[in-house]
Amino acid sequence: MEKSTRLNHPPEVTVPADNRPVVAPIHQSVKFEFDTVAETVRFQRGERPGFHYLRSSNPTTRQLELTLAGLQGRADCIVCASGVAAINGALFALTRQGDHVLCFIESYGPTRHFVRSNLARFGVRHTLLSIEDLGGVEQVLASTPTRLVIFESPTNPVSKIADLAALCAVARRHGALTLLDNTFAGPHQHGQYDIDLYLHSLTKFAAGHGDVMGGAVIGNAELIGRMRAEFTLLGAVLDPHAAFLVQRGLKTYFVRFREQSASAQRIAEYLLTHPAIARVQYPGLASHPQHELARRQMSEFGSVLSFELRCGAEAGGRFAEALQLFAMAASLGATDSLVLPPQMIGARDLNAEQLRLSGIGPGTVRLSIGLEDSADLLADLAQALAAAG
Ligand SMILES: Cc1ncc(COP(=O)(O)O)c(C=O)c1O
Repeated sequence: MEKSTRLNHPPEVTVPADNRPVVAPIHQSVKFEFDTVAETVRFQRGERPGFHYLRSSNPTTRQLELTLAGLQGRADCIVCASGVAAINGALFALTRQGDHVLCFIESYGPTRHFVRSNLARFGVRHTLLSIEDLGGVEQVLASTPTRLVIFESPTNPVSKIADLAALCAVARRHGALTLLDNTFAGPHQHGQYDIDLYLHSLTKFAAGHGDVMGGAVIGNAELIGRMRAEFTLLGAVLDPHAAFLVQRGLKTYFVRFREQSASAQRIAEYLLTHPAIARVQYPGLASHPQHELARRQMSEFGSVLSFELRCGAEAGGRFAEALQLFAMAASLGATDSLVLPPQMIGARDLNAEQLRLSGIGPGTVRLSIGLEDSADLLADLAQALAAAG
């Protein structure tokens, strides 16, 4: 065999069946083959298990899907290239021309945008309400046949809590599917509710280290089975190496989530006492208007909190620039602390009334708390608040 041939058919190293690696290997292969045509055909007919092409599945991405499904308490999962790919793919897979979708002012901006602009191009109608307007939800679902309701809890950036039991009951009564973007609460929470599909940005708490993107859709086997072919066609596949990094991140998921939540609670309580701050929004605070609901629904409240600076946007900008330990960057849920000043909290598609309902004020600042020592973070916040004036 010539060397160039050998390089493309390297020696196989097999691991004996009784000598397993402790960490699962990364199957960094796009293609998988069977020994015979007959077995290939049997696979194509769904008569035997196996793998064929990464865009459909791969052992490493499949391992992550099964891990996430178990964590969320559902039977199956599709992983994909980003949280946005999960949201858009699910909406695209589930809607048809003429369908109606209910979404919320407080949702993640790109979700709102996809429903309002992209789905609209394909003749999918929508209604936009506030997540607090349960009466409006009942009214819309009773009067307009609705394919699905897509919502979040806690919401971004001001941590409103959706009443999951009430929302699910009304959606079920009117035959609408429920899609919860569960990114802020994390895949270990909210599984006890009658929710059809959970969406996650794995980029956040699941991966946890801010170095990889991913998304997931989790639900029962029938619904996920129906959606899988559409996701394969859309092609926003998760690379096996990215899947490995998320799987590795998940090993420390509970330790990180609990520590970051405890630290966020300490910081929220400190900010509450600061004279420059008019309001602090964190579901773990007894002063949060939906604290009791949050306590019923959640075991931990997460790492994201926001607050309203009395002196408005300019002070918010000075505050963010003065921070030493918080990076002024998008995203959340990773080990490093982040700040979003008012200038970076975009909701440009909302009109004045919708903006008022959203709870975003002129001086709203969002923090995502990482794994730094909370005493260091508190000292940094104190000096930056003083510097902001
Ligand atoms: C609630 C929520 N959903 C989805 C996403 C999108 O995730 P990704 O950045 O992985 O596409 C984000 C990102 O910030 C988010 O905050």
